[in-house]
Amino acid sequence: MTAETTDAPVSALDPYELKKQFPILQQQVHGKPLVYLDNAATSQKPLCVLDSSRHYYEKLNSNIHRGVHHLAQAATAAHEAARTTVAKHLNAARDEEIIFTSGTTDSVNLVAGVLVKSGRIGPEDEIIVSGLEHHSNTVPWQMLCEQVGATLRVIPVLDDGTLDLETYQSLLSERTKLVAVNHISNAFGTVNNVIHICREAKNHGALTFIDGAQSAPHLPIDLQLINCDFYAFSGHKVYGPTGIGILYGRHKLLTELPPWKGGGEMIKEVTFEKTTYNDPPFKFEAGTPNIEGGIALAAAIDFVNNLGVENIHAHEDLLIRKCAAVLEDLDGITIYGPEDRAGALSFTFEGIHHYDLGTLLDQMGFALRTGHHCCQPLMKRFGITGTLRASFAAYNTEEEVDQLGIALKKALMMLR
Ligand SMILES: Cc1ncc(COP(=O)(O)O)c(C=O)c1O
Repeated sequence: MTAETTDAPVSALDPYELKKQFPILQQQVHGKPLVYLDNAATSQKPLCVLDSSRHYYEKLNSNIHRGVHHLAQAATAAHEAARTTVAKHLNAARDEEIIFTSGTTDSVNLVAGVLVKSGRIGPEDEIIVSGLEHHSNTVPWQMLCEQVGATLRVIPVLDDGTLDLETYQSLLSERTKLVAVNHISNAFGTVNNVIHICREAKNHGALTFIDGAQSAPHLPIDLQLINCDFYAFSGHKVYGPTGIGILYGRHKLLTELPPWKGGGEMIKEVTFEKTTYNDPPFKFEAGTPNIEGGIALAAAIDFVNNLGVENIHAHEDLLIRKCAAVLEDLDGITIYGPEDRAGALSFTFEGIHHYDLGTLLDQMGFALRTGHHCCQPLMKRFGITGTLRASFAAYNTEEEVDQLGIALKKALMMLR
C-alpha cells in the first residue's frame, strides 16, 4: 500500500526491515511467532545495542575516572561521550546536568532523598503528584512526606483518562514545593501537557520533576521547552539495557543540593574530620557505575535518532489508532484513556478477567501486559483491578495489530 493508492497514513519506517535487527523477535513462543506488545514494560534490544555491550567487555572494560592506563582512559572517554549523547538528545544545557542512575525509580528516589537531606521541604509543605502516576513516581514522594511531615496532594484524573488541570490549578499554592508528574502514562498512554504543568508550578515557586520513562521511547524531548527542574527515564524502555537510566537536573540545583549516597567518585577530598564533595554530576554518582550500560544506552539513543523520533512516533501513532479501531467493536470492551494516546492502549472486557485473556493470548504467541501496571490508585479510580495493555515500539506492524484483533476474538469465544 502506498501514499498514492490510499488516504490512510503511511509509516516512514519499515518495521519488517527493522525487526531483522532484533534477534529476540525472530523466535516462536508456544510454537507461534512471537508478537511482542509489552514494550511499555521493556523494549527489545537491537543488534547495535547488543554489539555495544559486547564491544565494551571485549575491548574497553576498565574502571573509569581513576586510571591513567589506556583502557581506563578509553572507557572513561566512552562513558563521558555517552553522557554527551544523552545531554544532546534531551537538549540539556550542559553535559553535567545528566546523572547516570540505574533507572527511573532510582532517579526519583535520588531526588526525594536529596530533597529530604536538603531540608527544603518541611511539615507545612505540599508535594503534588497526579492520579496517573506509576508507583515509582508516587511512593518515594509519599515516603518523603512521611519523613518530613509534608502533605501529598493528587491531581485527579478525568473520565477520559486525562488530568483535571483545573483542579491542579487550585491545588497549587505557596505551600507547593514540588510537582511530580509523568510525561506519558504507562497505564493509559495519556500524554500530559508537561509544559503547562511545569509553567504553572514555577509560577508558584515549586520545583518540577517529570517522569519520562514512557516518553523517551516515543517523543522528542526538549528540556529547554519543558523547562522542568528534573527529568528521568530508564534505558531499558528505549531499546537500551536494564540497570541504566538517567536523571537530568538543572545545573544550579545540582550544585546547591547535597549528595545522596556516599562513597568513591562523589568526593573531592576525604579526611576523618570532614569530606568535601565533587561537582555535579559526579557528586551524585557514588561508586562504580554501570559503565557498559551507559555506553549501550548511548548506542540505543543513536539507534532512535537514526530512525528519527518523529518517524517512530508517527509509526506508533498509526498502530495505536489502528489498534483502537480494530478493538473498539469487540463485544463488552472498554478502552481507557484519551484518543490521542501514545505508546500504550489499555482495555478490559466486561465479565472477563484480564489475566485469563492475557494467558490465552500468550498461548497464541502474543506478549501483552495484564494487571494494574504499577498504578493501583488509577485502577481504583476507574473501579477495576487491572487491564490488558498492548504497548508499541518501532518494530511492531499493522499486521500484528490485525492478528491481535483475531486472537482476541478467539480468546473471547473460549471464555464466554
Ligand atoms: C511511567 C513510569 N514511571 C516509572 C517507571 C519505573 O521504571 P523502572 O522500573 O525502569 O525504574 C515505569 C516503568 O514501567 C513507568 O512506566
